[in-house]
This record gives sequence, structure tokens and C-alpha cells, in this order.
Amino acid sequence: MPRPLIAGNWKMNGLKGAVAEFGRMMEGYDRKMRARVDLLICPPATLLATLPVVALGSRIAIGAQDCHAKASGAHTGDISAEMIADTGATFVIVGHSERRADHGETDAVVRAKAEAARRAGLIAIVCVGETEAERRAGVALDVVRAQLAGSIPDGATGADLVVAYEPVWAIGTGLIPTMADIAEMHATMRAELLARFGAEGAGIRLLYGGSVKPDNAGEILAVLDVDGALVGGASLQAEAFLDIARTYS
Ligand code: PGA
Repeated sequence: MPRPLIAGNWKMNGLKGAVAEFGRMMEGYDRKMRARVDLLICPPATLLATLPVVALGSRIAIGAQDCHAKASGAHTGDISAEMIADTGATFVIVGHSERRADHGETDAVVRAKAEAARRAGLIAIVCVGETEAERRAGVALDVVRAQLAGSIPDGATGADLVVAYEPVWAIGTGLIPTMADIAEMHATMRAELLARFGAEGAGIRLLYGGSVKPDNAGEILAVLDVDGALVGGASLQAEAFLDIARTYS
């Protein structure tokens, strides 16, 4: 079983003052918690130069929320995986549904970004998930299978890839799927990874994301093949984020 990961996605939130909140997370991530669960915070790019330095020695990993597929060049406003690695960050989220929707990112674009992450020595968190209409139409499993096939690079392993299942309709809404639906989706994703990558597929962590809170984390994280969570809103406060991680202790 892969080591669990609780990842915080701060999205477009956090000014300099948020460093203090991160400090409280570092204080709370004690020896007991460190023995059982990995923690990751993905701040906005403006804090990427700061947090990896603050985090030194704390063992909380830092990641970015997106990267460009190219290493450098004429791409105003973009940040490359190499630049992210240069800050000391070790992860990058790619293909979040907000980027797929707001920036028209296709599976091919997401895959190129995941390949860039590996090139730079970062672990890519590839996000997938169906819309509400797709869930209603009964095609959620097919949609996610296609996203996995299109977004994940060949040769992926647990050392360079994490997958996050985030139903679009559950993000920021307070709604979550039934535990049976999460179990079915995660079992399907695991089967896809095993079929494509053989035994390596067993080591790729599968996170659930979408309205994970301290009061529902227990039941969600107990589902088979849920190896952690990708947390948005509840990752902005140290206590809520640590409470979710404490599910493992
Ligand atoms: P949420 O966001 O926890 O606020 O629903 C999750 C995500 O988008 O990663």
C-alpha cells in the first residue's frame, strides 16, 4: 500500500500573511503524524519562492498548481517545471478541472505538462473527474478512464505520478459522492493503472478531492484504494488541514 498523502491546493488564495498559517501546519505536523502520512501544500506561484525555504526541515512538501510543458522560452506569464523545481518545490498539480475549464486544457496538454514535471524531477498530480451532467448520464467511469488514458504519460511510476479523482460537481460545493461511488471509481482507476503499468500501477497514489473536510475525511479516507486527499478550501486553515491528516493517526 502506498504511503498516504494529504495535499492542500490553495488555488488563488494566500498573500504573505499565509506564511504564518503554513507555520502552524509545520508545528502541528509532529513525529506521530510524520510516521503515518505525507503532507503537501500547493500555494499560489507568488509564494513558491518563499514556502520551500520556510518548509526546510519540516518535511511538509511544497508544490505548484500548474506548469508549462516547455522548459523555457517566449511564454509570457507561464512558469516551467524546471523553475518550480528550482524553488525547492517537489510536486506540481496538472490538469485541475479549473484549468481544464478556464484555460481549455485538453488531455494532450495535461499529458505534456506531466511529462515536463518528470523531466524536471517533480512529481505530477494529474487531476481527473466527471462533470455533474456526465455523472447523471451514467458515463463517469468512461470519462475518467479516457482522461487517465489521455493525460498520463507512458512509463509513469509511483515515484513521479499521483492521480487525483475530483468530481467537478463536488469541488467547492459541499457535495460528495457516496462512498460506494468513490470506491467504484478508485477501483476502476487502480485497474486501469495496473493494466497499463503492471505492478508499478499499485504504487501510484490515488487521491480523492472535492469538498473534503475534517468531518467527512474519516469515511472517505477509509475507502479501499483512496490513498489520500486533495483538499481545497479546508487546506487554507492549519487546524482543518491537520485534522484531515489526523485521520491516519
Ligand atoms: P475543495 O477543492 O476541497 O474546496 O472542494 C478541491 C480541489 O479543487 O482540489
